[in-house]
Amino acid sequence: MKILVTGGAGFIGSNFVRYLLRSQKDVELFNFDKLTYAGNPENLSDVADDPRYHFVHGDVNDRRAVDRVFRHGFTSLVHFAAETHVDRSIEDASPFLKTNVLGTHCLLDAARRFRLSRFIHISTDEVYGNAPAGVSFTEESPLAPCSPYAASKASADHLVAAYANTFGVPAVVLRCTNNFGPFQFPEKLIPLIITDARQDKPLPIYGDGMQERDWLFVEDYCHAIALALETAELGSVYNVSAGAPQRNLSVVRTILRHLGKPEALVQFVEDRPGHDRRYALDSSKIHRELGWSPKVGFEEGIRRTIEWYQANSAWLDHALSGEYRDFYHRHYARRAKTIRT
Ligand code: NAD
Ligand code: TYD
Repeated sequence: MKILVTGGAGFIGSNFVRYLLRSQKDVELFNFDKLTYAGNPENLSDVADDPRYHFVHGDVNDRRAVDRVFRHGFTSLVHFAAETHVDRSIEDASPFLKTNVLGTHCLLDAARRFRLSRFIHISTDEVYGNAPAGVSFTEESPLAPCSPYAASKASADHLVAAYANTFGVPAVVLRCTNNFGPFQFPEKLIPLIITDARQDKPLPIYGDGMQERDWLFVEDYCHAIALALETAELGSVYNVSAGAPQRNLSVVRTILRHLGKPEALVQFVEDRPGHDRRYALDSSKIHRELGWSPKVGFEEGIRRTIEWYQANSAWLDHALSGEYRDFYHRHYARRAKTIRT
């Protein structure tokens, strides 16, 4: 099996590349990645010398580079590459529209011309928007994205569906809840809290901290993607979730307990504009049709994640340098107003 992965130097992509190389002997894998601030070659340094793995530096918006890589002749594509941080999309949506919408279009076009056998599109639960209390979205629920990031991902989902319908592109769409685990860039909630709490920094909790997310350990998601690659019905959409939603404040308290740090570090700050209160998915379809269910509970996953960040401070130092630091300072300077302590 010869597979093209886009965005394989990011958080989920790098975990997936490692997962597939470990679980399948006869796989050959190309990782096409622009290496934005979120793409880190160090995420895959342990497999860089594996003869089955190839890195190609490129932008999904660059039609010529995309064509060049497609000429290697792949059976399947797993499309992770995206701008992914909601706060950044609020600051400037342009890179989100470019990569998430136009970049996806560029790949769909290549998939059609090169007659790819399987296009796994990595979408998100955020395309459904805010879930009212008691509601879990199914694959049939309407898309109602609320942030510029979510709108760009929903646009990509519509394009994928249109290319499947119009040109027969063999697509499968996965919509997953929030992931956590090793190699996540420390701008997202869990790695940010681990990193800052270890240094006794104030922990910025948006609004009242009562927003709900359904955290899935990244290894479980990699398993779901591998199943989709092998057996998912073409033209299908699958929701993927842990099925154990939690409030942000509860997640933060769990991390503090593991680290032995005081709750006094929590600092309630001005809320994210348009902040979705709750995400919740019904993932019974992937359970029923592909036999997938999560194996790593939140307690075990968070313990493994914290241990990984504790053991990889050099990785963290590199991730925290450069462009990220600039964003961090700009962002938190604006948000510095404490609303409750
Ligand atoms: P990430 O931000 O960690 O990594 C994104 C990767 O894409 C990086 O390696 C980056 O260099 C690459 N990239 C960005 N723009 C590119 C371009 N123009 N051309 C080529 N490569 C480019 O992202 P992640 O958290 O691993 O998310 C991966 C995918 O999963 C995304 O599509 C995201 O929408 C989706 N998703 C993520 C989560 C989550 O909790 N992290 C949840 C649901 C869905
Ligand atoms: P995040 O990890 O950015 O993922 P998403 O917005 O895609 O769900 O945020 C997870 C939740 O944590 C979300 O409700 C926003 C909140 N949050 C904070 O309270 N403080 C922070 O510093 C960050 C980054 C997020």
